[in-house]
Amino acid sequence: MQTIGVIGGGLMGSGIAHVAAVAGYDVILSEVAMDRAERGKASIANNLARQVAKGILTDAEMVSSLDRIFLTVDTDRFADAALVIEAATENEALKTKMFADLCPKLAQDSVLATNTSSISITRLAAMTDRPDRFIGLHFFNPVPMMGLVEVIRGLATGDATMQIASEFVAAIGKTMIEAQDSPSFLVNRILCPLLNEAIFALGEGIGSVRDIDQGMKLGANHPMGPLTLADFVGLDTLLAIMRVMQEGFGDPKYRPAPLLVKYVEAGWYGRKSGRGFYDYTSGEPVPTR
Ligand code: 3HC
Repeated sequence: MQTIGVIGGGLMGSGIAHVAAVAGYDVILSEVAMDRAERGKASIANNLARQVAKGILTDAEMVSSLDRIFLTVDTDRFADAALVIEAATENEALKTKMFADLCPKLAQDSVLATNTSSISITRLAAMTDRPDRFIGLHFFNPVPMMGLVEVIRGLATGDATMQIASEFVAAIGKTMIEAQDSPSFLVNRILCPLLNEAIFALGEGIGSVRDIDQGMKLGANHPMGPLTLADFVGLDTLLAIMRVMQEGFGDPKYRPAPLLVKYVEAGWYGRKSGRGFYDYTSGEPVPTR
């Protein structure tokens, strides 16, 4: 497999394109508009430069990786890709529409993967022309730094597709775990209720933003405090995942914290909007409560 396609040049799509290009794949990266694709590539260049600064990559590897990433707004280009990974916005209606447009353009034997963090792989697969060649490849943010890819088979996913997916994960130097096609799969099933619980604790006044984060960093050795991590993941994304679990399991233990709902209603999405549980507008993040 030489060419892979990535749909979406946001945080996750650009991260996936980054690691695939470093591993030697030619990558076709598509976006809805060229300026967005170019922003994605600029962030890849920036993140590759961090790896050069840390001695993980050489200058020459950075340049050759960037040269392997081709930008497009035209999904016809994906006809050459043996594997296409969708990393668009977490919105089921949008993904369904995108797959309907994309599938006729793909080579008959190519594999279509989705980086969805919570939507049923079986349901998404059923909306395509290739449920046996459809699979979940769930990456973690920041993709170049995180060692894991969660692989999720839908009910119809074939063994050959699983084989292609696991070879790809190994080729990009990540470790694979297999999760069942259950709401939010495995890591988010455990991680997101933890982040949500931290927001309940904040809303109930059990601790301040600083103390909740310090508590979990120093008392549980987490690399980031849960409120920092919630801001990092995006509060809108966290809320969407909690709602998928609440609806999927029908269990009130997955209800989103009222403060999380309020922050999202305010447009306070975390790092990406400049404000969440921290204010990011003046350099060093400042706790807001
Ligand atoms: N590419 C992209 N981002 C990079 C990077 C690279 N090559 N190298 C570093 N970063 C980012 C960090 O996010 C952060 O951003 P900033 O500089 O803009 O503030 C910064 O670079 C910190 O970098 P450091 O060099 O100081 O890196 P650290 O050694 O401190 O590690 C970390 C940073 C790996 C992010 C660590 O803090 C960590 O492991 N945090 C937990 C991350 C986590 O849990 N991710 C999973 C989220 S859940 C998820 O993604 C699933 C989804 O479905 C919701």
